[in-house]
Amino acid sequence: MQIDASTATPRTPAFPSRLPQVGTTIFTVMSALAHAHGAVNLGQGFPDFEGDPRLVDAVADAMRSGLNQYPPMAGVPALRAAVADKVQALYGHRYDADTEITVTAGATQAILTAILCCVHPGDEVIVLEPCYDSYAPNIELAGGTVVRVPLTPGSFRPDLKRIAAAITPRTRLLIVNTPHNPGASVWTRQEMQQLAEILRPTDVLLLSDEVYEHMVYDGRAHVSAASVAELAARAFIVSSFGKTYHVTGWKVGFVAAPAPLSAEFRKVHQFNVFTVNTPMQHGLARYMADPAPYLELGAFYQRKRDLFRAGLQATRLRPLQTEGSYFQCVDYSALSDLPEAEFCRFLTTEIGVAAIPLSAFYAGGFEQRVVRFCFAKKDETLQTALQRLARL
Ligand SMILES: Cc1ncc(COP(=O)(O)O)c(C=O)c1O
Repeated sequence: MQIDASTATPRTPAFPSRLPQVGTTIFTVMSALAHAHGAVNLGQGFPDFEGDPRLVDAVADAMRSGLNQYPPMAGVPALRAAVADKVQALYGHRYDADTEITVTAGATQAILTAILCCVHPGDEVIVLEPCYDSYAPNIELAGGTVVRVPLTPGSFRPDLKRIAAAITPRTRLLIVNTPHNPGASVWTRQEMQQLAEILRPTDVLLLSDEVYEHMVYDGRAHVSAASVAELAARAFIVSSFGKTYHVTGWKVGFVAAPAPLSAEFRKVHQFNVFTVNTPMQHGLARYMADPAPYLELGAFYQRKRDLFRAGLQATRLRPLQTEGSYFQCVDYSALSDLPEAEFCRFLTTEIGVAAIPLSAFYAGGFEQRVVRFCFAKKDETLQTALQRLARL
């Protein structure tokens, strides 16, 4: 072959985007703005404090003891067993650790892989808006059609009649998220049972995003799809160690699903990531022997929620209900007519506190004068934010 002696600038071929609608997300934009203006960042959902040093030690021990090569494709057996035991203890459903639990690179990969393994081109997937921003692009990558059903504005409760009405013969999957990001609502047992009744005559699968499962408040219980037998039989249940143990950057999660669903999930998983980093899995397995950290998480975050909400009383922001998750939505309609994104820009640049517009979680950019704060922050961070918000 002759070497091309052309002096023309090398050309990168253009190709049609698989996700033409996706640009820079509001999360990136707001974080950059918060950084540039020295604002307290209550926008993005991650803790600004460290996880438990015992967990870090457990991972370091695993690394030092040579647990650094590929683990089994589905995950380290001890971690899968710990997950199966925990799910049984909390939700009363026994998953087989060998065939029904798969460790993933965070919930994000679990969601993508679950969608890719069951959604065919032309299938419809129902999402409940507002929703986590990965769902729709994941469905589009699979060639599916996103069908959006709104949660009730203000309360963010599921409208089960509308969900039932959205099901067609082409519906393959329904995605639910409880406790909810960004709406902070928590599905009741009655709502989960109604959902089971709606799905009973159909072949619709369920993707239940339960990454905030341990953050429920005021004596409520998280109702996992695992605890409703009819739902468990058709569900991929997704959770995240990052959220539960304050280590979002570790990106480790899991999916629990009946064996036939897990088998299809693993077909995609093995060619998607193959497996997940070994020492984190061993460290997590050892740490999970003590249930206290996840059992106490609700009380830990409820105190922060209450601190933040109490401080909001000194502002003209109206806090909406937070039943679960580490998000607090506020209605600012008494204060401003600005659209949500502009209000967030104003909050960040003029008041020094970053938030996320709720419209970012709706495809059509629905405006309701509500923004989301994350209270997974040190008390000092929340106090500083509140002092600044008090100027409103
Ligand atoms: C509803 C929801 N699902 C999934 C995720 C992703 O979790 P992970 O960090 O484990 O990928 C998040 C993170 O913010 C989330 O809010």
